[in-house]
Amino acid sequence: MASDFAQLVKQQADIVKIIGDYVRLKKAGAQNFSGLCPFHKEKSPSFSVHATRQFFHCFGCGVSGDVFSFIQKIENVSFPESVRFVAQKCGIPLPKREFSSEEEAQEGRQRAKLLELHELATAWFEEQLRSPEGALAREYLTGRGLKPDEIQRFRIGYAPESFHALRERLQSVADPEMLRLSGLFSFKEQEDGKPGPLYSRFRKRVTFPIANESGRVIAFTARALEAGDKAGPKYMNSPETPLYSKGNVLFNLDKARQAIRETGFAVLVEGQMDCISVYLSGVKNVIATSGTAFTEPQVRLLSRYATRIIVNFDPDTAGANAAEKSIALLTEEAFEVRVVTLEGGLDPDRYIREHGAQEYLAALRGAKRHSDYLIERARQLFPSSTADAKVKALNFLLPHIRRMPNRITRDEFAADAAQKLGIDSALVREELKQAAAKRRDSISQVIPTLSEAEKVLLRALAGASSDPAHQAALAGFDANEAHFEGLTVAPILKQLRHRGAVDPMVAIEDPAGRSLLAQALHDEIEPITAEHVTAALDTLRCRHLERRQRELRAAISDAERQGDAAAVIRLTSEKLAVDRELREF
Ligand code: CTP
Ligand code: MN
Repeated sequence: MASDFAQLVKQQADIVKIIGDYVRLKKAGAQNFSGLCPFHKEKSPSFSVHATRQFFHCFGCGVSGDVFSFIQKIENVSFPESVRFVAQKCGIPLPKREFSSEEEAQEGRQRAKLLELHELATAWFEEQLRSPEGALAREYLTGRGLKPDEIQRFRIGYAPESFHALRERLQSVADPEMLRLSGLFSFKEQEDGKPGPLYSRFRKRVTFPIANESGRVIAFTARALEAGDKAGPKYMNSPETPLYSKGNVLFNLDKARQAIRETGFAVLVEGQMDCISVYLSGVKNVIATSGTAFTEPQVRLLSRYATRIIVNFDPDTAGANAAEKSIALLTEEAFEVRVVTLEGGLDPDRYIREHGAQEYLAALRGAKRHSDYLIERARQLFPSSTADAKVKALNFLLPHIRRMPNRITRDEFAADAAQKLGIDSALVREELKQAAAKRRDSISQVIPTLSEAEKVLLRALAGASSDPAHQAALAGFDANEAHFEGLTVAPILKQLRHRGAVDPMVAIEDPAGRSLLAQALHDEIEPITAEHVTAALDTLRCRHLERRQRELRAAISDAERQGDAAAVIRLTSEKLAVDRELREF
């Protein structure tokens, strides 16, 4: 990727608009916008975007960067991809040579081809659902309460019985190797180790496309129309492919992400059909794990959109186990987790069909705190009131309690557990103490503050090198480096001074330093002039002299105590010089 192109894109892109697609931003000053950081969990906004200087910074977790680093982080893409992404959003045509290496170009072509195949397959399955052979599948879907327009919205389709029809549809578009990579086909390995002829992986099944965050189809899950051994497993998924990895994807996130961001919470269910029913009942912020517990990448994916989650898994043993595992991962990432168990052993899909959307909403509203859910579960698993059962119940709960990153909620959980299990709360606290000694509570970053003079110099040095204020600051810094000794701002000024053409926010290496710079830039009310810089340099010089004065005063009394007359004379004459200099100001 030509960096000229990146530069051009950066000049034309509006970082506030681009980030605004992901974060709800509010105006927070002349050129600043602020919102909830999409990269860490928080309740009050510490994420800010600077409109004129075109960078973002989070005062909570310390991330910062320009429009490209934001897209890289939030879309999980490489730098060249982020440039293309932003270019496309701004309607800037891409240059012909847009890949930095041949390998990357090849990967890009492969991904594009696989996406094309999935798009074609989706349309083809949809077409098959409307064909005569699709009658049974249509009947099945109608039986599950889905209307034609709803089927279309989720692009549900039908994979016919044929072993070769899909291959025939796709073979003019891609070579056999690409078709094999798509995961849409199965094959038997031949004696020479090579793959045998390709045949349709999904046959006589209802197909549900699985999309990535931006709504492109990357895989399928397909449900057997009939039960029984001959039909194979009830659900069949695409295998891992260059496009798809099950543990990295959340079903329906493409449709749900806007609502999740707006409401700040997500409803998590197990099955695709659950997800579809809940979505169609009006709860748009719903996603599905597709029948497994949450994985770490999924938690990270979700944490970009929400901080709260309601887990609504099937009320069977598998569902409860998956719920427990998911709760563990989510609370560790500081999610606020609630749990719903629907009455009558129903999964969300059946519950909505039997009780209606209103009652489902009521159930969501009545979701239990995860601590209450787990305590109840412990009592279910170890119901007797013997000492032995109590110990077992407590042992079940302790890992969950320890995992809570926040001390207040952790103590609350422990107290509740003790009370409900009928255990002395001192005992629970004792058990927790050992673990507590080992864990480090998340310490909030301590950000030192800067004086106005220090901020002025930072702003000047972060500005364009042609600016007179910048030049004044540069000269002042080089001539009087001693005046900056020991100041928090010193290492930052140094890095800015030597940054060359690098972006100021990129030039600062440590997050604390970036925070300080961001703070200074965000507080900027009027443009810095050379006069401001001169005044700031004077102030710093004055401070430096006052510091020196105090040091000398202490050193003189030390020397006097020790009876070192020569030192007293030397130090006193230096102090007189400093005093004079200060008076002359
Ligand atoms: N699942 C799977 N493979 C199976 C069974 C289930 O991958 N053999 C996954 C599917 O994603 C399914 C989820 O686990 O949606 C929940 O399983 P289950 O409760 O059995 O399915 P339901 O969603 O209730 O399926 P349906 O309503 O279609 O019977
Ligand atoms: Mn189910």
